[in-house]
Amino acid sequence: MSNLHNLLEKVYRTNDLTKEEIMYLLENVTQADREVLYGYALKTKQAYYGDKVYLRGLIEFSNICRQDCLYCGIRASNGKVERYRLTPEEILACCDQGHKLGYRTFVLQSGEDLWYTEEILVDLLCAIRKSYPGVAITLSIGERSVATYQRLLAAGADRFLMRHETASPELYEKLHPTMRFEERRACLSALKNLGYQVGAGFMVGLPGQTLADLAEDLRYLKEFHPDMIGIGPFIPHSETPLGAEKSGTLEATLVMVALARLLIPDSLIPATTALGTLDPQGREFALKAGANVVMPIITPTSVRKQYALYENKIYGDDQLEDCLDCLERRIQAAGFEVDLSRGDSQQFISR
Ligand code: 5AD
Repeated sequence: MSNLHNLLEKVYRTNDLTKEEIMYLLENVTQADREVLYGYALKTKQAYYGDKVYLRGLIEFSNICRQDCLYCGIRASNGKVERYRLTPEEILACCDQGHKLGYRTFVLQSGEDLWYTEEILVDLLCAIRKSYPGVAITLSIGERSVATYQRLLAAGADRFLMRHETASPELYEKLHPTMRFEERRACLSALKNLGYQVGAGFMVGLPGQTLADLAEDLRYLKEFHPDMIGIGPFIPHSETPLGAEKSGTLEATLVMVALARLLIPDSLIPATTALGTLDPQGREFALKAGANVVMPIITPTSVRKQYALYENKIYGDDQLEDCLDCLERRIQAAGFEVDLSRGDSQQFISR
């Protein structure tokens, strides 16, 4: 048996690999090995979560951002974006629609927009809690003070998504001229210590990213042990400094999804919109490689196209995203079962 097969068996059996082992695997993996890897990841997902796919309604409530990330289409210095900001009333109306469709988890995502003060967010969270007591509320609003995170948690937020983006300090600071690597890490740790279910994650195929960087991304996740892990390909946006760069590939992203499942087996892993943008079957492939969450966009259609982090993002134009039955049929056709419940992470359940 080859060295590579030994490594695949090892990660399947022990849920652990060293950075060097991950790098060896990434350097030498063949298409046949990838099939074995995806199979192991699928079996591991099934052992922890069965064949359930959890759905989260994603509300992109503002595309205004104070940060200037080189890869991102809504970066502050992109003057060509038509900016929007949903009022708390509009966000509540969106939750109402989502709730009627059957969603029991809402992800409130935005650029880093300080118009939404702590007070506004607290009131919004209280209003959502009052109308829909049983739902899970996830925030994805970027960096704030620990005191604010604490108050938002107390007001009813359950979860917080904040990708670490890349585990390489040098690459991180190159891509995020307005941000600090250490600050990002500190926010993630604070969120976890406060008691949020936390989502971290990274992009695959960033310009300048090495296999060592990707191995480090997985090692960081293994050590940090988040509840959720978002992994998607980098996709260029023409109105950014990285507009002429190449996208990350489907295969490389799927390998990282599968390894994340094997290394952090109790995590919730979305089949990301970016993967669905890269390939029409991308999200199904991810579900077969260890992912178990889909986050349909339920942002009001009037502003949906303006939340363009990258080019050609799928917006549910085909109404698939707005038609839960269609989505459910598609997930069933891939061999899985839709679950609209809160879908807490196994780590959280056993805490
Ligand atoms: N390509 C792929 N993903 C992107 N994101 C932002 N811009 C891009 C891009 N050009 C991801 C980041 C961010 C998440 C909300 O979207 O990882 O955390």
